[in-house]
Amino acid sequence: MMLALLGGAPVRTKPFSTWPVFGEAEEVRLLRTLRSGKWGRLHGEEVSEFEQRFASMHGCTHGIAVVNGTVSLRIALLAAGIQAEDEVIVPPYTFISTASAVIEANAIPVFADIDLQTFNLDPAAAERAITPRTRAILPVHFAGQPADMAAIMALAQARSLVVIEDAAHAHGASYRGRPAGSIGDMASFSFQSSKNLTAGEGGIITTNDAALAAACRSIQNCGRVPDGLWYEHHVISGNYRLGEFQGAVLNGQLDRLEEQTRTRDANGRYLAARIATLPGLYPQARPVDCTRHSYHLFMLRLDESVFGAPRAAVLRALAAEGVPCSAGYGFSLPHQPLFRNRAFGPYLAGASAKLDYRDARCPASDLLCREQCIWLEQHLLLGSRADAEDIARAFEKVYEHRGALNQAGVSLQ
Ligand SMILES: Cc1ncc(COP(=O)(O)O)c(C=O)c1O
Repeated sequence: MMLALLGGAPVRTKPFSTWPVFGEAEEVRLLRTLRSGKWGRLHGEEVSEFEQRFASMHGCTHGIAVVNGTVSLRIALLAAGIQAEDEVIVPPYTFISTASAVIEANAIPVFADIDLQTFNLDPAAAERAITPRTRAILPVHFAGQPADMAAIMALAQARSLVVIEDAAHAHGASYRGRPAGSIGDMASFSFQSSKNLTAGEGGIITTNDAALAAACRSIQNCGRVPDGLWYEHHVISGNYRLGEFQGAVLNGQLDRLEEQTRTRDANGRYLAARIATLPGLYPQARPVDCTRHSYHLFMLRLDESVFGAPRAAVLRALAAEGVPCSAGYGFSLPHQPLFRNRAFGPYLAGASAKLDYRDARCPASDLLCREQCIWLEQHLLLGSRADAEDIARAFEKVYEHRGALNQAGVSLQ
């Protein structure tokens, strides 16, 4: 059978599961909220109910919901007492917010490379990045696979560093049986549209530390304190409160999270095993410590010299076979114009001139961005085993026809 890109029949014509998934649970809660007239979290009950449910599902006693998963990172950094020009170690292969939130806390992101097999922060690189100014490590559970938390926590404990997990991809994931979001001092999740739990926008900080929780809660609410007057403000902060309509949607979504996470994990494991049999394709390596992967993304590397065709052509061929996919990030973070140009606005005024992100050495992250990474979105894994079979067959077909794909190469550019 010829490649669909070259005129053959595609492996798949049926669409995959769509995202977001919603239904009566959200409708009932949204209408009830609308009719109650209690649309803000100060008066309604949806956001506080969600905070408790989400935190306890993620092994935490405290959850502080906020407007998105970028400010949640910044609030966690502020609550941890990060001071101007302190250094915070971050991976270079992540969404911009992991590093920009550090700058918006007036601190310095220091990049430590990822491991080329797991795509997560390499603890040895993090250790090499530590200086006397380091105050925190911000590992990302990338794609939904927990970072190497045992090594990261050991490093942090030895040097008295704060650990904030960026769990924006990791709803429902677990590490050695412990929920992602309950291992560091604090964690941050996102509920933006693409995320495994969504209300269009939103975020939460989870923690088991009552003092950190109180600091986060104050910062998300204009610096107020529990027994203070309404117009009494104790710390510099802002209004980052999540609204009740989003709380209502999130409570509805949360009812489905456990089952959806199990489905994604089972389909992801199956797909990884199938794809790993093809030369030059390397799905995200899964250490035994990852007891549940939330598969916000199904990620793999394609080594062109082994596979026998370039990534751009493979992506087009897969899409034509009915499997939507992308190359993911085009830049490793140190190469982003923001860092190249040190366009930090009013932040880091004293330190900015001394920083030079061209010095950041992150070859694994660079390689993923430049030529190897392939992403499939989480909702492709929400269907049946037959859907995962179709994805595997599309990869197999493209591999079998790599010769034809290369011959057609010129017209593919
Ligand atoms: C790893 C990571 N961290 C943080 C964020 C920021 O979340 P938000 O979009 O809710 O601000 C995102 C996603 O968008 C992300 O992928």
